[in-house]
Order: sequence, then C-alpha cells, then structure tokens
Amino acid sequence: MNTEWADAGRLAGLREDLVVTGERARIPVEAPFTGEEIAELPAGTEADVEAAVAQVQDAQESWAERSVAERTAVLDRYADRVLDAQRDVLDLAQLESGKSRRDAFEEVLDVAATADHYANVAEDLLASERRSGVIPGLVRPTVHRHPKGVVGIISPWNYPVTLAISDALPALAAGNGVVLKPAEQTTHVALLARRLLVEAGLPPELFAVVSGEGERVGAALVDHVDYVAFTGSTRAGREVAAAAGRNLVDCSLELGGKNPLLVLDDADPQKAAAGAVRACYANAGQLCISTERLYVHDDVYDDFRDAFVAAARDLRLGTGFSYGPEMGSLQNEPQLRKTVEHVEDAVEKGADVLAGGRERPDLGPYCYEPTVLEGVTEGMTAYDEETFGPVASLYRVDSVDEAVARANDSEYGLNASIWTGNPERGASVGRRIDCGTVNVNEGYAAAWASIDAPMGGMGDSGVGRRHGDEGLLRFTEAQTVAVQRGPRVDPGPLPQALWAKAMTAGTRLLGRLPGWLR
Ligand code: NAI
Ligand code: MG
Repeated sequence: MNTEWADAGRLAGLREDLVVTGERARIPVEAPFTGEEIAELPAGTEADVEAAVAQVQDAQESWAERSVAERTAVLDRYADRVLDAQRDVLDLAQLESGKSRRDAFEEVLDVAATADHYANVAEDLLASERRSGVIPGLVRPTVHRHPKGVVGIISPWNYPVTLAISDALPALAAGNGVVLKPAEQTTHVALLARRLLVEAGLPPELFAVVSGEGERVGAALVDHVDYVAFTGSTRAGREVAAAAGRNLVDCSLELGGKNPLLVLDDADPQKAAAGAVRACYANAGQLCISTERLYVHDDVYDDFRDAFVAAARDLRLGTGFSYGPEMGSLQNEPQLRKTVEHVEDAVEKGADVLAGGRERPDLGPYCYEPTVLEGVTEGMTAYDEETFGPVASLYRVDSVDEAVARANDSEYGLNASIWTGNPERGASVGRRIDCGTVNVNEGYAAAWASIDAPMGGMGDSGVGRRHGDEGLLRFTEAQTVAVQRGPRVDPGPLPQALWAKAMTAGTRLLGRLPGWLR
C-alpha cells in the first residue's frame, strides 16, 4: 500500500494517546481499498470512559479559567497545523475510510475553516451581556455563558476528520473539555487530528479519546458527560437522545437524510447536471447531506438526464492515495451490501438502471459504480430509505409545486439543493423546503461550508444545530445574574387588592414602553 501509515508501528504510536485502563479485547481495523487488516484497536469499556471523563474534568477547570483569547489562540494555530500536516491527514483518512483524496481534502479544508471561524467569533459570543430588567433601571440582569464541563462526542466513519473534530473546536473554545468516541473503523485518523490539536497548544489531558463499540463505549459516554454531540444513524441517534433524556443532559444529533435536489424549469440542464453529480457522488454518496432524489421539471428533464447520466458514467472511480480518482470506495461491507440491495430491489420491481449498477471488485472489494435509476416508485427501498451510497433516482415533475411537495414527502429533513436560472426564485422556493439547509445552484457545499450559518436537520434528520452561533452556544450554560437596585417590588403595607390594581396599571404601562427605554 502506497502510504507510510501502512506501517504498523506508526499506527501503534497514535494508539498510545488512547485512554485504556487494562487489557482489552481487540477490534480489527481494515483498509477499505484492499480489505487488508491494518491494525487492532482496544475495545474500550465503561471503566475507560470513567477514567477519561475524570481526567478531562480535572483539566477542564483550569482551562475554563483561561481567557477566551488564550483558548482561541490554540484554534488559530490548529488551522495552520492541519493545513501544514495535510499530507499525513489525507493519507490516513484515505487509508481508513477508502475515500478519494479529493473528498479527504474537503475535510482538511473544513476543519481549518471551522477552527478559524470559532477563533474569530468565540470572544464575542461568550462575552457576558446586559439584558433589560423587569423594572427599567432598577433591575439589571446580566447573562453569563459558562462551559457545560465535559462534552462527549460520538462520530461516524464517513467524514472521520471533520466529524470527530469540528464539534470539539467550539466546545473547547467555550471552555469545555472533550471525550471523543470515534467510529471503530476510523479511530486512528481521529487520534491524528487530536494530536495536531495538542501540537497547536491544547493541554493533552483536556481532550481524551476512547476507542470501542458504539453500544458499549458510546452508550457509557452518554451516561458520564455533561453534553453529547452525536453524528451517525437515526437509529443510534434515538438511543443517544433517550439516554441523554434520562440523564437530563442536552444533546445535538446530526442523523440521516434522503436529500432532494430540484431542477426548476428555467435551469441550465448542463450546469445543473454537473452540480448534481457532485451532490450525489461526493464521498461515494456516504455523506449525510448528499443527494439521493432528483426532481426535474419536464421542460428540462431529457436534457438534464442525458447530461447527468453521461457525467455519472464519466466519473473516475478508483482506489489510490493520489489526486485523480474522483470517487473512491465504499467504507465497509455492510455499506456495499445495502447499496447492492437497494439497486437490486428497484430493478426487480421495475426500475431502470441508466448508469452504473455494478460492483467493481477489480478496483477494490467495496467499490461500486456511480448509479442512476429511473422509474423508482413507492414500495422500492431506494424510494424513501437512505442508501448512503452512490445511488441517485430521477423523477420527472410538472411544476415547482409538485417538486416541493415531493421533496417534502420524507421523514427526513437535512439538506436540499435547487437549480435555477434565477437565484432569487431559487431562494424563495428554498424557504418552502422542510430541510435545515438548502443550497441554490450548489449541492451541499454552499450551506455546509458557510460556517457562520447553522446547519442541522429537521424531522428524523436530527436535533439541534452545529456551525453558526448555535454551534458554540450549545456547549454553554446560560446563567442570569439579576441585581435589584432600590426598593423591592412588594405590596408592603398596601392592601393586596390595591397592590394588584397598581400592578395591573404598571404592567400595561411597561408593555407600551418602547424597547430602547427598557
Ligand atoms: P452508527 O450510527 O451505528 O455509528 C455512528 C457512531 O455511533 C459510531 O461511532 C458508533 O460506534 C456509534 N454508536 C452506534 N450505536 C451507538 C449507541 N447505541 N450509543 C452510542 N453510540 C453508538 O452508524 P453505522 O452503523 O456505522 O452506519 C449505519 C447507517 O447510518 C449508514 O448506512 C447511514 O445510513 C447512517 N449514517 C449516517 C451518518 C451521517 O453522517 N449522518 C454517518 C454514518 C452513518
Ligand atoms: Mg452501527
């Protein structure tokens, strides 16, 4: 294998950063490009989680006492550190995930941009704020933002750098410590991303990583932390939310999607097709915000279909550690099986395969061609279930209203894409789509990469938001300290009925005061 990370010693060096408190069972880790086993991970236990949380708790107290500027200086340096070390990060992300280098590079950019963003805005967001009091001038509340304490992060394998680190960055800026449980398949690259953060100046005890299975380590984590940020399947997300609920800790969940793309009647079919190919096949479709359903207006349907099918067939599929292949492998065997099953089920029930539809064991054990389906109908799994693979279904629609109604006919509500010659029109159609992010004339990157704006899911796609102000404030406890000046509001010697009358008049008067007077 053409990467230095294939060296077992280098991977073992990363595992030294794991919190493991004794002899543990082993979880094999494979390289999806070849199916070879490259390492074994310790299967962590609840004891490991407890040790990690205790260690982070200790470190967090002094971290929270540092100034926000000191904390964000680490994020600032981290952005540069990740960009400088990108070759190592790309190699290892590819080795463990099987993705193309181009897809891995999007993670490097994303992490650096997220670090820079929160380095720039954290001080303002965390500043204590005066609010208006119940009696103008006499009551003065101030809102303070305290860190939650220890934030637990549970991350998946599809974007193993971004999804392990990007929530940690605002959590740390807000004064929290972090315990991360990365996906079993991609733990080494998460360890590397965390090590770069330590090299950028983060106290090493402040950010612990525990390896192991979701049902064991992930579930234990939810029972020991002060906040949980989860990214993964809707199935596991429900369990995390239920446990967080029992513990009365807050959580954010970014879950699955069955994301729609609309091509309006005024779209340029060539441009829309080029954009749709990236929207559908980035990361081989293993992207929570990638497109699986395309609603194309009748006026442009034939031209769009021809261009889209041609572009899907032209995509360079391959395995290798250099730029070149546009689409890589699927990450694992179950992911390949699910993809195969969705396509077989559709074909058996009468759908047509316009492109792809084949495994490519000649390239790698989990490679599958970018696939375009037409004639998918209700009752086929590909119609409404998330494939999380390189499979897109085309649907002809007669109007914008039909496209919007069909786009919204889903339990999910994560991301949507709209293609049009008139961006204003696209933006107003976008407001009618029940998704947390909508991209006009882009597939997913416009909304996702605008880190100043919140992103997350409606419906079964999740709870809460990452990115934007919400993406940092979720890791804080808002505390109100209200100072009463002058006399307390109290009936005192007044008869209570008289006091109630006076208060009624006073409340009416206060309600009419202009905002600036309060
Ligand atoms: P998963 O949801 O099981 O795994 C994601 C993370 O959650 C991993 O770190 C896992 O160890 C952990 N986990 C699993 N069960 C848990 C539990 N009960 N409590 C706490 N943590 C738990 O996802 P999986 O099985 O790898 O993929 C299955 C499907 O999920 C995919 O085919 C895809 O449809 C969806 N998925 C969506 C992702 C997204 O970005 N929204 C990412 C990965 C998967
Ligand atoms: Mg699972």
